[in-house]
Amino acid sequence: MNRKTLLFGICIGLVVSLMIGSLGQVAVNAASDWLTGTVDEKIDKLASIQPGYGIMMQQIGQRYNDLYFSAKSGNWGFAEHQAEEIQVILQEILMVTKPKRNEDAKKFLAASFPMILDAIKKEKFPEFEKAFETLRNNCMNCHISQKVEFVKLKKPVLTTSPVLAGVK
Ligand code: HEC
Repeated sequence: MNRKTLLFGICIGLVVSLMIGSLGQVAVNAASDWLTGTVDEKIDKLASIQPGYGIMMQQIGQRYNDLYFSAKSGNWGFAEHQAEEIQVILQEILMVTKPKRNEDAKKFLAASFPMILDAIKKEKFPEFEKAFETLRNNCMNCHISQKVEFVKLKKPVLTTSPVLAGVK
């Protein structure tokens, strides 16, 4: 290899490595445009955007509807899934991110579980409906205690889950 070819090779190598380097930089910047500051500040920012009651209650509301129509259509496996997910959202998300409401959350869980799961296991809709009514009241007790008594839950009339399409 003569000197000219060697120099050319080194130059190409430099250009390519600079390109790769700057691409990497762009990717890093794009991922962290908003996540700036010290590590502590970054953690605070991430913590502040974890889902709270506003977001997760909509999800719980949907699962409450789906729970009712799963049972009504005899899909007891899906009913159990919905009830468990309601429990998980409270225990593993809301009680972690919003501990101020934990006393009421604990009361709700103790009054509702395993009560609703036991009713699901029996696979009899009239019995389930009674348990569901208790669940509805348990949910609303927390709303009253948390001063959002205007969130009055009605008996479900509609489900939007594709698993339950057409169930009335
Ligand atoms: C630990 C207390 C607590 C429990 C238990 C609870 N909720 Fe809520 N719920 C709230 C609070 C607080 C709000 C108001 C949301 C906010 O603060 O942004 C709310 C709001 C809601 C909303 C309105 C959401 C919206 O913004 O459109 C629905 C629907 C709802 N809850 C359903 C339920 C159902 C169904 C249950 C029972 C399976 C339940 N909740 C149990 C505290 C609770």
